[in-house]
Amino acid sequence: MSRYTETYDRWKNDRTGFWAEAAQAMDWVKPWDKVYDRVADLDRWYVGAECNTCWNAIDRHVKSGHGERTAIIYDSAMTGAKAHFSYDETLDQVARLAASLQDLGVQKGDRVILYMPMIPQALFGMLACARIGAIHSVVFGGFAPTELATRISDAKPKVILTASCGIEPGRIIAYKPLVDEAIALSDHKPDKVVLYQRPEVSADMGANDLDWTMLVDTQKRHADCVTVQATDPLYILYTSGTTGQPKGVVRDNGGHMVALRWSMENIYDIKPGEVFWSASDVGWVVGHSYICYAPLLAGATTIVFEGKPVGTPDAGTFWRVISEYKVAALFTAPTAFRAIKKEDPDGKLIGKYDLSSFRTLFLAGERADPDTVKWAEHHLKVPVIDHWWQTETGWAIAANPVGLGKLPVKHGSPTVAMPGYEIHVLDEGGHEVPAGQLGAICVKLPLPPSCLPTLWNADERFRSSYLSHFPGYYETADAGFIDVDGYLYIMARTDDIINVAGHRLSTGGMEEILASHPSVAECAVLGIADEVKGQLPLGLIVLKAGVNTAPALIEKECVKLVREKIGAVAALKTVITIKRLPKTRSGKILRATMRKIADREAFKTPATIDDPAILDEITEAMKAHGIGG
Ligand code: COA
Ligand code: AMP
Repeated sequence: MSRYTETYDRWKNDRTGFWAEAAQAMDWVKPWDKVYDRVADLDRWYVGAECNTCWNAIDRHVKSGHGERTAIIYDSAMTGAKAHFSYDETLDQVARLAASLQDLGVQKGDRVILYMPMIPQALFGMLACARIGAIHSVVFGGFAPTELATRISDAKPKVILTASCGIEPGRIIAYKPLVDEAIALSDHKPDKVVLYQRPEVSADMGANDLDWTMLVDTQKRHADCVTVQATDPLYILYTSGTTGQPKGVVRDNGGHMVALRWSMENIYDIKPGEVFWSASDVGWVVGHSYICYAPLLAGATTIVFEGKPVGTPDAGTFWRVISEYKVAALFTAPTAFRAIKKEDPDGKLIGKYDLSSFRTLFLAGERADPDTVKWAEHHLKVPVIDHWWQTETGWAIAANPVGLGKLPVKHGSPTVAMPGYEIHVLDEGGHEVPAGQLGAICVKLPLPPSCLPTLWNADERFRSSYLSHFPGYYETADAGFIDVDGYLYIMARTDDIINVAGHRLSTGGMEEILASHPSVAECAVLGIADEVKGQLPLGLIVLKAGVNTAPALIEKECVKLVREKIGAVAALKTVITIKRLPKTRSGKILRATMRKIADREAFKTPATIDDPAILDEITEAMKAHGIGG
């Protein structure tokens, strides 16, 4: 019998009491004056409380006698490197790096950008910042220098932490030239770059660059945890907005640690000492919450895995890691399972490993399609739990809380609202729609602990992006419905964000880049269906009059431009030249109709289209590129 309903009702009946009780699991330097309050027009949790997130993630476990327990397991399927770090060893690395950052002048409230591959030093860097009250901002390694530069300009870091390289299948990516280029592009210059030299690449060091290992090894001092306000920012994580300018989601210290700690026990059912593996990247919110902070706050063991679900070396890698480290729960994106299913459709490699420790598979980051869920259930014989959340929230809005007792699974649904979230599905006029009817999914304010109080240096953008469309609610920008049993279904985004292999990307951002090509007059980028990645971007361009260059050449240049400006992660591989874009008579580009053509979905020619014949031309142009038809 699940304790979900009783727990959710307990929260509904005493919303602040619930979070006051959950906060008892953490150590506080000073308790809060108010569990919840509105401060400067923003919703804040644990107002007046003082704490340190690093203390709660590391020191607390060491002080209570668990220093020898493994905190971090490192496994690189790319290099074969493996390592274990106990809580004692992690504390030593983190406290020495923190002291070195202080020696470089980094103080409470200063920003530090991390541009790191999946190595344990990424976690040491994040925790070192948390320890001294500095605000970290991790930038995903698959982003190009221009994207890194945008974040450097916005966050204005004193120091950048990086490594000599990232490793992708078939190529080694030297990071130092990318960091140097980003700093050159940015209008803000950090004081120092601290670089971890990996054996695969030795980076050339400049006058402002310091060697990570040398700094830490020669550091005699352990930095103490610096007391911060619960409402002080712990980190900024930039995520795609509807323009090329990313949104700096702010996460605070107090609410974040309370909500994550609660989720480990009640959603993921993980006890101290158990191994929790989140196969994501520290550059994404899943990596922040469930590779770094939550497992450590819970006193569990986390895995830093460098590799892919397939091809490193095969589709059995995930099962190898689960059996080797006795993983109790794995959290990944459905796309990883679609990739595995494609390589090993009968799950033959699963049988090669002892998965007796494995209890639950958690999926998030994109819609978990029922076929993939069923395949995983059939072959793994453990519950497969879809859950839904966003960078903005930092933890699940809707989930099946296994720790409270699993609710029946409905394929295609991330199940039910978690305590803290009152979910409503609204029509355009802001009225609640009946069960089963599609609408905009919104959360009644205030949002619970861990959710963004604002955007970095952009309170107004925060309000206009999330709060203004439906007054009194947070607009998730996801559309979906709630069924008669209260189960939620997430069907689509209501904005121009697409989800490529669990990565959140802005088609608007890509359009800005295509439009910057000197031969392009107009363009549109659509998210079209892809068997493995869920969605893939497709670019459509209209050339300026008088351009004589072969369209194929311009298309290639456009693909290259997006890779250069956003990074490989954008995965824009196809750009098609068309004569005109289909538009309504008022000039609105008919993106949805073009997407339906690409996805071979039935569509009605919109009555407002300015020139219906253009749709046939587009169908032919797509067909010539093997799309739609
Ligand atoms: N640094 C540099 N480049 C990176 C990178 C990184 N950290 N991560 C990805 N890239 C590159 C890839 O090499 C690839 O480049 P290519 O176009 O030259 O091949 C491109 O970005 C796209 O990467 P990705 O979307 O990861 O595609 P893939 O084909 O390499 O792998 C999957 C596909 C499904 C196996 C992979 O996306 C995956 O494992 N996803 C798991 C889920 C996940 O991590 N989700 C994140 C949120 S939970
Ligand atoms: P991100 O901020 O990168 O975590 O992306 C958040 C977005 O990913 C959400 O707004 C959804 O559009 C999508 N998403 C995340 N989890 C799920 C899920 N379980 N089901 C459907 N969509 C999801």
